[in-house]
Amino acid sequence: MTLDAVLTQIDTDLDASVERLKDLLRIPSISTDPAFKDDCQTAADWLVSDLASFGVEAEKRQTPGHPMVIGHVGTGAPHLMFYGHYDVQPVDPLSLWNRDPFDPAIEETPKGKVIRGRGACDDKGQLMTFMEAFRAWKAVHGSFPCAITFIFEGEEESGSPSLIPFLKEYKDELSQPDMAMICDTGLFNRDTPAITTMLRGLLGEEITIKAADKDLHSGMFGGPAINPIRVLTRIIASLHDETGRITVPGFYDGVPELSNSLKAQWENLGFDAKGFLGDVDLSVPAGEMGRSVLEMIWSRPTCEVNGISGGYTGDGFKTVLPAEATAKISFRLVGTQDPFAIRENFRKVVRDMLPEDCTVEFSDHGASQASVMSTEDPSFEAARLALSDEWPRPAAFIGCGGSIPIAGYFQEYLGLPSMLIGFGNDDDQLHSPNEKYDLRSFHKGIRSWARVLDAIVK
Ligand code: BES
Ligand code: ZN
Repeated sequence: MTLDAVLTQIDTDLDASVERLKDLLRIPSISTDPAFKDDCQTAADWLVSDLASFGVEAEKRQTPGHPMVIGHVGTGAPHLMFYGHYDVQPVDPLSLWNRDPFDPAIEETPKGKVIRGRGACDDKGQLMTFMEAFRAWKAVHGSFPCAITFIFEGEEESGSPSLIPFLKEYKDELSQPDMAMICDTGLFNRDTPAITTMLRGLLGEEITIKAADKDLHSGMFGGPAINPIRVLTRIIASLHDETGRITVPGFYDGVPELSNSLKAQWENLGFDAKGFLGDVDLSVPAGEMGRSVLEMIWSRPTCEVNGISGGYTGDGFKTVLPAEATAKISFRLVGTQDPFAIRENFRKVVRDMLPEDCTVEFSDHGASQASVMSTEDPSFEAARLALSDEWPRPAAFIGCGGSIPIAGYFQEYLGLPSMLIGFGNDDDQLHSPNEKYDLRSFHKGIRSWARVLDAIVK
C-alpha cells in the first residue's frame, strides 16, 4: 500500500525530477581536466543542497583532488551506503555532438524519449535515480526507510586517486553500513534489469618512447635515424598473438575458466551478440578466438590501445621524423590477475624491445583488481525480485566489462560488500559524444529503487 503511494509520488513528480537532473547536468564537472576544478566543487555543492532539500544533512569534504560529499540520515536496519560519482568524462571531440554537452534536453528518438548531455547516464542520471526515490519516500512517509549513508565521489572517471586515503581517514564512520549500493552499471537489455556481480579490473599505462633530441627532416635523416613511432607500433603489435591472446609473460595467471553452471546461466540469458555488434556497425568479434562475445566482455581480460600520438597529425602533410611517440594502453583484468605484476611484466617487455638510442618513460594511470560480488546475502534475491516487479522481464545476475574499482575498495578498506544496480543501456554512448539516458531508465530506475528499498528493509 505505502509502496504504491511512493510509486505514485514518483510518477507525479517525474517532470520536476527531470528538471533537477538537468540542473546537475549543466555543471561541467570534468574531473580529469584541471580547467574544470571549480565546476567539480560546484557539482559537490549542488549535491549537498539537493540532499538538504529532502532532509538529508550532508557536507562537502575536501581531498587533495576533488571533494567527496557525505551525508547520513535515518535509522534502522539495514544500514545502506549509496554511492554515485558526480564527475564526468571530457566531451571531446566536441564537433561530433549534436548539441552543447552541458545544455541538456529531452529529445524524441525512435526508441523513445532520452535525456541528452554529458553525464546523462554516467553517472548523474543514475545517481539521481536513488536520490529521487528517497525524495519520494520521504514525501510519502515523512521519514527514511532505514539508516542511509550517501557517498558521492568526484574522481571516478580519473581513477579515484583520493578515494583510498579518504576511506582510510573516515574508516570508523564509513564502515558502519552493512552494504554499499552502487548505481553506475547497466540493464542486461532494454527490458531486463540486472544486478551486476562481476566487474573487470583495470590497469592504465602510458608509454613515451624518445629517440633523437629533436624532430628531424625525414629526407635528411630518414634511414639512419631511428623513428620512435615505428618502435612504438612494433611493440604494440607484439602484445597480441594471431589468436587474440595477450603475449605479456604471466598475463593469464589468475584468469579462471568459467564454471559450467555460470556458462549455462549466461547462455540462458539469450544475449544478442549480432545485435550488440550490429548496433555499432560491426559484425565479427575481434577478441580471443573460441570465446563467446559475452565471455569476451565479462570474463576475459583484454589489452587495448586507447590513444596514440607522435609526429605530425594536423591537416596536410609534413615529412617529419619525430623525436618521440606516446601510447595510452589499458588492460581489463579478471579473476585474481595482479595488476601490479602485470605492470612490471609489461614494462619489462617494452624495455626488452627497446633498440639502442631509444629511451622510454612510463606513467601510471591506475591499477585495480577485478571484483566478484557474492550473492548469498538474502537481500540479493529480494532485490532481484523487486526489480523483476518493475520491468517487463525478470532481473538477471550479470557481469560487466567496465570497471568500478570502488566496489573492491569498499570491500578491502571498509569490509563492505556491494550491490550494483543500474539502468544504463548499451547505446547510451558513455564516454562518447551525444551521451544520453533513456527517460524510461530514469523513471523506472527511480521506481526500481523504491521497490528495492521496500523489499530489503527489515
Ligand atoms: N560507469 C562506468 C563503468 C561501466 C562501464 C559500467 C560500462 C557499465 C558499463 C564507470 O564510470 C567507468 O567508466 N569506469 C571506468 C574506469 C575508471 C577507473 C576510469 C572504465 O570502466 O573505463
Ligand atoms: Zn560511471
